[in-house]
Amino acid sequence: MNSREKFISSLHNKNHGRPPLWVMRQAGRYLPEYRKLREKYTFLEMVKTPELAVEVSLQPLKRFELDASIIFSDILVVPEAMGQPYYFRDQGGIGMEFKLETENCINKLDADNSVDKLSYVKDALLLLRKQIGDSKAMLGFCGSPWTLACYMIDGGSSPDFPRTVNWAKTSPNSFAKLMEKISSVLVNYLNMQASSGVDAIQIFDSWNALCPDKYLNEWSLYWINQISLEVSNKVPIILYAKTPSGRLHLFSNCKVSGISLDHKTKLSDARKILPSSFTLQGNLNPNVMETSPDNVEHKTLKLLNEMRGDSGHILNLGHGIRPNAKIECMEALVKTTREFT
Ligand code: CP3
Repeated sequence: MNSREKFISSLHNKNHGRPPLWVMRQAGRYLPEYRKLREKYTFLEMVKTPELAVEVSLQPLKRFELDASIIFSDILVVPEAMGQPYYFRDQGGIGMEFKLETENCINKLDADNSVDKLSYVKDALLLLRKQIGDSKAMLGFCGSPWTLACYMIDGGSSPDFPRTVNWAKTSPNSFAKLMEKISSVLVNYLNMQASSGVDAIQIFDSWNALCPDKYLNEWSLYWINQISLEVSNKVPIILYAKTPSGRLHLFSNCKVSGISLDHKTKLSDARKILPSSFTLQGNLNPNVMETSPDNVEHKTLKLLNEMRGDSGHILNLGHGIRPNAKIECMEALVKTTREFT
């Protein structure tokens, strides 16, 4: 069974043997070849030039025997295409060129032409498929409406996005209007990715934890389900939900194929709580990749043994790989997974 078949069979809960492995934000700053290219081009130049985006997407696959490739892009290209550009702050993190402050700002966002402006993602996906062939899986992705709204309303990175939480709480109608607009763009965007040959789509709800239990559905999951209902008949959807483990049961009715979890939840506990049909993705602590190969081997074996025999497990980090991750730790992760029986 090749990597792609293994990945697809895990999505259908039918994989036997070791789980498939890929790593989120794999094309990140920990690779010297990425940093070298980045000296020549801005991040958005690389994202918007299909040949460069594909080169970066392939960098980790050239070094490591991963089973899947995720297209090099960013969740914030969607607000950018809707008319809200962003940049990297000097001190780190993201800044949006302006904040959404009033309902009028929502009205001004362009939902009609934004997917045309994202056609570079389609071109990159078609080219990436050509390069990786049929033996590796290819993933597309987007941010969830809630997580995108966090950046759009607070105007960039924040530990707790207080303006967004306040807007959702105090003006639910105008907030819903924003969510509807973002969701309509995402449906078209994901359909475009589906028709470009992705094997799965990951929706990143990175800021899910900021929705209190009683608003979890109204602020986030409802919109993810709306999108999923329109797209999941074409391609399976994995929801990355960075959320407290105590409320995993609230995700049981999500209309997705799988859930990806961060390292704070024990994956075998999640298996007992969530429907058995869900693929479970995760969830090594990304910090481990900054330690030593021996420690990576130990932690990986622990997780692999915990999930032994689970036909719907995809091995992944609990969050994106960090700039200080060590290459020899990635090598240990791949070797340990590949040798696991
Ligand atoms: O593996 C891959 O290459 C996939 C591409 C990918 C990127 N971002 C590339 C990237 C993916 C899947 C993302 C997702 C993403 N982007 C999320 C959701 C996942 C998560 O981390 O919770 C979010 C919230 C973003 C928004 C974003 N973009 C942030 C917070 C940052 C880091 C800013 C900083 O200074 O710390 C980015 C930049 C970014 N996106 C980089 C990469 C490789 C680093 C760019 C660089 O400095 O060269």
